[in-house]
Amino acid sequence: SLKTHIAKLPLDSYLFNASGPRCTTEEELNRLAGSASAAIMTKSCTMLPREGNAEPRFQALPLGSIQSMGLPNLGYEAYLEMLPRLKQARSSRRGKPIVVSVSGFSISDNVTMVQAFQASSADLIEVNFSCPNIEGKPQVGYDFEQTERALEAICQLGSKPIGLKLPPYFDFSHFITMANIIKKFPVSFITCINSVGNTLVIDPETESAIIKPKGGFGGLCGDYIKPIGLANVRAFSQLLPSSIDIIGVGGIKTGTDAFEYLLAGASAVQVATCFEKEGVECFDRIAKELGCIMAAKQYSSIAAVKGKLKMI
Ligand code: DHB
Repeated sequence: SLKTHIAKLPLDSYLFNASGPRCTTEEELNRLAGSASAAIMTKSCTMLPREGNAEPRFQALPLGSIQSMGLPNLGYEAYLEMLPRLKQARSSRRGKPIVVSVSGFSISDNVTMVQAFQASSADLIEVNFSCPNIEGKPQVGYDFEQTERALEAICQLGSKPIGLKLPPYFDFSHFITMANIIKKFPVSFITCINSVGNTLVIDPETESAIIKPKGGFGGLCGDYIKPIGLANVRAFSQLLPSSIDIIGVGGIKTGTDAFEYLLAGASAVQVATCFEKEGVECFDRIAKELGCIMAAKQYSSIAAVKGKLKMI
């Protein structure tokens, strides 16, 4: 069985969608409700509806994608209003968990939105500390003081579990500093990693950047970033108490990828680039592939493998 838990909430499967592609509109969220995704994750919302950045702002690449979407979303009130209908969606198992992603432009935005979702039928709240694509708004997760101030403000607003979507870190001093901040607050889960921010892909034919916003700088996604995601999951699983669940994201498109994140210590994984490319069928396919790998290795549960990475 691929059953697992995030913040003590049971999930029927190990895989669900990442906040990102195909989870902005009610139609898209209803499609997730009817899919094999273990939960319904929403696109990061802001106080007001947003169209997002100028196009072209997404480009598929041979091994993933680069994007600078700029948080296009319906505004948090639209998601608040949609939640009761999503919970009851006829095509979904009644009560399939809903995870709302919140991405305010300030601590006060995040307080307002977390407060509102604390009083909603959402099951989990993932606060995005890592959007790289808003001009003039640095990624919160790279500013340790702001991270701590934000956690002080948002962790005491209700009893629904709060998680953090983190940017990738590349140095042990940063893993340690962030883990020590997280341990000071009642954070129930972390999601590692967001896209690798501010990368540049160039088309040598046209001699131009491949996307328009921010002078061509955008978030790198997909296969390119899997080793970075695995390292972040592994590092935080060693630095945080086991009561804080880790959700792995970054380059998961096969059962093997999901199995590697499980060995690194992830309690569940999210899929973005592959879901963008393949649609909701990816959840059932990857789950079956993971199930085959575990059966072949005679592992009977997620818990039997989680964090069991061996050193050579
Ligand atoms: C966007 C991209 C991200 O990587 C993120 O965490 C949030 C938003 C975006 O550009 O929409």
